[in-house]
Amino acid sequence: MRKLFKHIKTLVQVESSPRAVVKGKDMAHLPSIDNAWLLIENDRIRSFGEMQTCPMNVDQEIDVSGKMIFPCWCDSHTHLVYAGSREAEFVDRIKGLSYTEIAQRGGGILNSAKRLRETSEEELFDQAYARLKEIQGFGTGAIEIKSGYGLSVESELKILRVIRRLRGNSDLTIKATFLGAHALPLEYRENRKGYIDLIINEMLPKIANEGLADYIDAFCEKNFFSVAETEQIIEAGAKYGMKAKIHTNQFHSMGGIEMCVRHKAVSVDHLEVLNDEEIAVLLKSDTMPTLLPTAPFFINDEHYPPARKMLDAGLPVALATDYNPGTTPSGRIPFVLSLACIKLRMTPEEVINAATINGARAMELEATHGSIAPEKIANFFITKPIPSIAFLPYAFGSDLIEQVFIKGKLV
Ligand code: NIG
Ligand code: FE
Repeated sequence: MRKLFKHIKTLVQVESSPRAVVKGKDMAHLPSIDNAWLLIENDRIRSFGEMQTCPMNVDQEIDVSGKMIFPCWCDSHTHLVYAGSREAEFVDRIKGLSYTEIAQRGGGILNSAKRLRETSEEELFDQAYARLKEIQGFGTGAIEIKSGYGLSVESELKILRVIRRLRGNSDLTIKATFLGAHALPLEYRENRKGYIDLIINEMLPKIANEGLADYIDAFCEKNFFSVAETEQIIEAGAKYGMKAKIHTNQFHSMGGIEMCVRHKAVSVDHLEVLNDEEIAVLLKSDTMPTLLPTAPFFINDEHYPPARKMLDAGLPVALATDYNPGTTPSGRIPFVLSLACIKLRMTPEEVINAATINGARAMELEATHGSIAPEKIANFFITKPIPSIAFLPYAFGSDLIEQVFIKGKLV
């Protein structure tokens, strides 16, 4: 089935030979064609060009005059398999408690873990599936999902099996990450080593045996997991072929970046607190710095990642939602992009590169996702009529995505 989209106002993020990553100054450039056509065949992109070269003899033609086409977003950091919600903590923060204070009282991640353990796999699947459907409508075509709200052998496996089931029930491309080291569960409060041993000796072998995770993650942060503990977990994951994608530098800089880079982590995520030495370390690596600006926004933390400094130094950055019940109960990439423009001072072109090619790269999907390129998966969305590319992050409250195609099919 050859489907042709014609009279596209602007076809955004087109590439003849796909780039693996976009860095520094190059991020300001978003290759696009005005008055364009796009041809897809079944689940693949075939070709594109300017309207005067428009092909004929196709099976279906769709006129999209006035509208733009973008490649789908690649959301490389989410926790969307969780049970229930945490709006009571949201209200506690309004009344003056901090995110850390709430966590120390047994709220936060442990609150979600308690709920998740009480929720059946069936119910958990239904909740997560509804979220997956929702984010698809926001234009997301590929996503990474973490475990981390189970914190026991049985419950971590439950989450990862739900992720596997989501994959079987959706055309979205899904990567799974094992985040057993998200918080120390209450029953191990006096026995840190016991919990790390449980992760390494009980959880990991079972997860690897069932092939449930592509990556390993840990929350490297004061009051959560130290650099040495995170390193132990990365090394254990590596034995099963799981590369690292690590939560670090959310509230403190403690040496996590240097250690992750040494272990060739695929990404380091958060980076609200990042110093010049760490930027220099990242510059010598292939590790993708991944920024999650809706997290400090939602918990009203004053620290946002120094994106401008990072880009000016020549680094790439990826942007992702962090969709989770504690710090970002939202999977809406377009809002992440608006916020990155406003708070991180990234330009519209930069934020779009960060959530397409670089997001794909942060999930090792750059060969098949993240741009409009021949042979890539036909994941793209058609906007409502909009005057310019910058209008997308500018009109932050509007739903500007009209139709989403995943693997060539309208969803
Ligand atoms: O990425 N920081 C660690 N994990 C999540 C939030 C977890 C939670 O509060 O439930 C994050 O922000
Ligand atoms: Fe996260």
